[in-house]
Amino acid sequence: PVLVVDFGAQYAQLIARRVREAQVYSEVVPHTASVDEILAKNPSAIILSGGPSSVYEEGAPSMDAALVKAGVPVFGICYGFQLLARALGGDVEATGAREYGRTQVQVAGDGGTLHHELPGSHPTWMSHGDSVTKAPEGYTVTATSEGAPVAGFENLEARIAGVQYHPEVHHSPYGQEVLRRFLHDVAGIRPQWTTSSIVEEQVARIREQVGDGRAICGLSGGVDSAVAAALVQRAIGDRLTCVFVDHGLLRAGERGQVERDYVAATGVKLVTVDARERFLDALAGVTDPETKRKIIGREFIRVFEQAERDLKAEGDYKFLVQGTLYPDVVESGGGEGTANIKSHHNVGGLPDDLQFELVEPLRLLFKDEVRRVGTELGLPEVIVQRQPFPGPGLGIRIIGEVNASRLETLRAADAIAREELTAAGLDGEIWQCPVVLLADVRSVGVQGDGRTYGHPIVLRPVSSEDAMTADWTRLPYEVLERISTRITNEVAEVNRVVLDVTSKPPGTIEWE
Ligand code: XMP
Repeated sequence: PVLVVDFGAQYAQLIARRVREAQVYSEVVPHTASVDEILAKNPSAIILSGGPSSVYEEGAPSMDAALVKAGVPVFGICYGFQLLARALGGDVEATGAREYGRTQVQVAGDGGTLHHELPGSHPTWMSHGDSVTKAPEGYTVTATSEGAPVAGFENLEARIAGVQYHPEVHHSPYGQEVLRRFLHDVAGIRPQWTTSSIVEEQVARIREQVGDGRAICGLSGGVDSAVAAALVQRAIGDRLTCVFVDHGLLRAGERGQVERDYVAATGVKLVTVDARERFLDALAGVTDPETKRKIIGREFIRVFEQAERDLKAEGDYKFLVQGTLYPDVVESGGGEGTANIKSHHNVGGLPDDLQFELVEPLRLLFKDEVRRVGTELGLPEVIVQRQPFPGPGLGIRIIGEVNASRLETLRAADAIAREELTAAGLDGEIWQCPVVLLADVRSVGVQGDGRTYGHPIVLRPVSSEDAMTADWTRLPYEVLERISTRITNEVAEVNRVVLDVTSKPPGTIEWE
């Protein structure tokens, strides 16, 4: 793999994604990993990520210079570029010329391999205080900017290069090409990470793990569990049984979609469990978001365990399939050194006394890869292109206690919002649009001749590439107006619709 050494920037995962877009498999490793540990993974190249700090700051993450002298191709980005420069004998200084955000970069000389034939001056995304002022000996400067005398350097023989800017973000329009050139032309890695190779590899892994055992898979109606199940089905056939838990926290029409469309596409064995009462009882009186998530995660597992007992006559179901994705793993603190932001119900929320062995065929994949795998496996577009929906469902979109009538209210509002967004042709543009009920908030309104005292509904349309960061989507006013008018007219209890205009960070996508 190509290893992205994470120096504490939120960009490390994005870099890994970009590498995979160049059809090269990559993983993120913490900067605390030793050189031996890193080399033991047999990396085809190492990418040093950006980081929040100055290389001169006390306690700034450092790098063992042995890493760049091991003969493995290395690419440094931003902070990683400066670490690289220092390790190779170049100069890094606090010149006082800081650059943040969109910054023009000039191609130096013929641009070397990385910047060859790119526009002589082109925009990039920068975020640095210190700058490389002198390239290491034997290294060609390939780019410069006003604040960074050396904004890019390379040495083809050593197969080492780097840039001061962030090639992984969209604001650097040539960044992907620069990364691709490093991987393919400098490091000489063959592009082999394709959708069909992912399917092949995962199927082989599942077969190895499950052997001739049986697995159970919870279908949530979302893309992830649908694709995970289809992969496992490809690997072990009808030794997989899918369980669809109707926990009462679903959106309108969701149960039918799974029971009809998914089964029609895959022919998978499906058991539906009506667990609405059980979840409602468990959630009664609970308002704390983390507690809700833990309860929902726990009840899920209990339902699966019950299903497993019910299936005993068929054989032993020892394995539980989960559609956990790479970002879930990292956000749940699975990646070392990352803060636990939320317990995703399918990762952090698992009870300690779990009786299943987990099968997580998407654990290393990003969402866009999962969608491509789904298509490759023959799943219909309505399933593969669905917007993400959290496992805990509407339970974490009711701010306050969850109960049946509040769920009814939110379900109705959510159905209207989805209907209108689809009708306006906006599904492709937005990543997802959570609809949130502020159940403990009331405001005064007027409707017909009377005063109302109802609840607000929050619309949270976001644009994102991977849910790690997001921006609020600028929906057309006419669409917002239609949604608002319909919700306040058609949903009793709701007399106000508000729009969430917060990006992530600082807000998360969901409200809980
Ligand atoms: P946040 O709110 O953390 O959400 O910005 C990021 C993405 O993850 C989804 N999400 C979940 N998905 N189980 C899931 O399967 C969960 O517990 C969960 N919580 C959040 C959320 O909808 C968004 O797409």
